[in-house]
Amino acid sequence: MTSRPEIVFEPLSADLEPTVVLLAGDDVALASRARELDQKSGGALTKAAEAAHYKGRKKSTIEVLAPPRLGNANRVILLGTGKGSDFKENDWVLLGGSASGAISARKTKTASIIAEAPETGGIKPAQLAALIAFGAALRHYEFRKYLTKPAQSDDETTEPDGLKKLVIHCADPDKARTAYARYAALADGIVTARDLVNEPANALGPVEFADRVKALEEIGLEVEILDEMQLADLKMGALLAVAQGSVRPARVAIMQWNGAKSKRGKPVVLVGKGVVFDTGGISIKPSAGMEDMKGDMGGAAAVVGTMQALAERKANANVIGIIGLVENMPSGTATRPGDIVRAHSGQTVEVLNTDAEGRLVLADLISYVQERFKPRLIIDLATLTGAIMVALGKEYAGLFANDDRLATDLLDASAATGEKLWRMPLDKAYDKMLESKNADIKNIGGRYAGSCTAASFIKYFVKDTPWAHIDLAGTAMDAPKSEISPSWGAGWGVRLLDRFIADNYEKADK
Ligand code: BES
Ligand code: MN
Ligand code: ZN
Repeated sequence: MTSRPEIVFEPLSADLEPTVVLLAGDDVALASRARELDQKSGGALTKAAEAAHYKGRKKSTIEVLAPPRLGNANRVILLGTGKGSDFKENDWVLLGGSASGAISARKTKTASIIAEAPETGGIKPAQLAALIAFGAALRHYEFRKYLTKPAQSDDETTEPDGLKKLVIHCADPDKARTAYARYAALADGIVTARDLVNEPANALGPVEFADRVKALEEIGLEVEILDEMQLADLKMGALLAVAQGSVRPARVAIMQWNGAKSKRGKPVVLVGKGVVFDTGGISIKPSAGMEDMKGDMGGAAAVVGTMQALAERKANANVIGIIGLVENMPSGTATRPGDIVRAHSGQTVEVLNTDAEGRLVLADLISYVQERFKPRLIIDLATLTGAIMVALGKEYAGLFANDDRLATDLLDASAATGEKLWRMPLDKAYDKMLESKNADIKNIGGRYAGSCTAASFIKYFVKDTPWAHIDLAGTAMDAPKSEISPSWGAGWGVRLLDRFIADNYEKADK
């Protein structure tokens, strides 16, 4: 749900749009084109900066009425990088987001960013331009689908339709355009994930969600939707126990992308919790804040967004995404506390709290994919526990893994993308907390370590496959606003997974 501006790459020397962003280093150090523009205007830019005591500190801006002889430009925004020498990839993405934010605040139809900085931390010019463009694209997101009024027009300078075209001026536009292609795919995936999370549950039930996934066949994904009859035939008793209180039937969506040279290579499997709304079921949640539970499908959204990005950029890897779509409702047909259900694996689960539903959905999907796909590894993503926010707040998602290599690879992807992960423990002591007298396992542990016992429950259904579980309850929804995300649903996880796959499973067609 966005009116992403058209992003075009042009040479540094090209004509400027009316609003221009220039990057300024420490003490307003300017790169070549910016310096040239300053000189052309008789030093007006640097003089204005000096008058305002502007120092070019990271993320700081000043606006200068465009001096004469700068073509179409009517205002220039200086955006500080501070010392750019220690910038990593993601810093440039964030800076692109800041530039985009500064532009949107000016309500203009077209704008220029001069993607050049005095110090770049060793990043090549084309890559720099692509990263800035990526950040700008991510920032430019709004979920306005249900607003019948146009964007507020508080004065006549307001441009209700927003930015239409963003010109990125850079040294080698052809190269930058090529470098940007993968980021454009990634941005598309992130927007899809955000849209899915932001969408209210009345509009996005399991069936509607599945329909949206099916539509991704258009970009080359193979999509299979399993309905309730098929799920019952597959004996997914745990997943169906969550869905049975709702009038809206469950679905499971399977997306396949076979982009590796060897189509028979074992796939990476991504599993997502897709609870379209979590009332808690009979163990009903308190009403305050319950509306947030429309986002309890953030794991599924991240999986779908990632699969879309992989397909759009034609990733050289075999990846399967599977999501369990259910609604957790209290009703006369709902699962009761104390009910014992049989999971796909054949194992029995005593459901002591119907609000611990996500793990039931994941249990069936994980046992199913092991049997059907023999994955090389499994990563599940789920808005699984409130407790992960008690532990880590909204900055970090929790990472649990039964395999150190996999954990390290995910932590590396996390460091590169800025989607933060913190590793949490698995331990026999947590397994013990799930022992039940009446069934093989119960679905809740004790009072403490809620995220760890949740992970331990999922682990119970993992055989000897490398597996990681990411609890993104804090990061997927009601996310902190940032330079690159103004959205309640952040689309968190798409960058992380895309990077994890790119860095570990595409390089030598392993
Ligand atoms: N979907 C919730 C977890 C959640 C809470 C996500 C808040 C985002 C924000 C999950 O299904 C849940 O209800 N978990 C329970 C588990 C408990 C019953 C053991 C929880 O965290 O309280
Ligand atoms: Mn719940
Ligand atoms: Zn839930």
